[in-house]
Amino acid sequence: MVTMAMALFHRRRARAGHPPLRIDNHRERRFGRAVVGATASTVLILAALTLTSFFAGRSVASLSGTATLTVRITGHQWWWEIRYPGDNPSRMIVTANEIHVPVGEPVKIKLDSPDVIHSFWVPALGGKRDLIPGRPSELTLIADKPGVYRGQCAEFCGYQHAHMAITVIAESREAFDMWRSRQDAAAAAPVGDEERRGQQAFLSTGCALCHTVRGTPANGTIGPDLTHLASRRALAADTLAMTPGALAAWIADPQSTKPGAKMPRVALSADDLNAVATYLGSLE
Ligand code: CUA
Repeated sequence: MVTMAMALFHRRRARAGHPPLRIDNHRERRFGRAVVGATASTVLILAALTLTSFFAGRSVASLSGTATLTVRITGHQWWWEIRYPGDNPSRMIVTANEIHVPVGEPVKIKLDSPDVIHSFWVPALGGKRDLIPGRPSELTLIADKPGVYRGQCAEFCGYQHAHMAITVIAESREAFDMWRSRQDAAAAAPVGDEERRGQQAFLSTGCALCHTVRGTPANGTIGPDLTHLASRRALAADTLAMTPGALAAWIADPQSTKPGAKMPRVALSADDLNAVATYLGSLE
């Protein structure tokens, strides 16, 4: 841009009276050397970056053989389904939008998408990888320090692309194992009239057609698994904090928070709505 500006300025000056075409051999040679120098340094810089990227990629890929944990992630419009395969299929943990990983251990992440192209990207942990329908891919991550790392879908995938965040929670091995064994359990049974009424409404009004709550007849697979919903930090792919108010507001009218989301508005009476929110809020 600077060179172009200089050339334009030069032309204007030339038009203002200076003879436009007078080749100065000495200057031409100097310019020639400058252009060759700039081209060579560009090539060198690009080659160095390419090599660095290649070796960094190779050392990251070599981690995959040592991974202690495999997590399957499926991108949906507009949330992430996260599955932890168990020793047998019935021991698989299914959750959404929040990945728990043990700190300091390589984690193999297998990615897939059933609808459109999404892109998994947690900047603080490196690697960005596209989720292309019909072309499963994988990547290995390692979180060196405990903490909460925010990620984001990095490929425009429709109306709510910006509301498709993912959170990686890196914690000690003990905390991770505890989390995993809690997730492994079936959902808590409703306690008290309000929660029982909420569960009844949840099962009878259509929520159960799209959502699973393990340990109940609800086994829909279109929306996120809600077995341990209240153990998550956020709702709707990090759009709302997990609070009783936000949960009720989300159930009452998902479309006002996330227009275009696949979750429809379910006709619930005010009392049923509160009961469903109380019930789901109890699923820790
Ligand atoms: Cu998924 Cu953007």
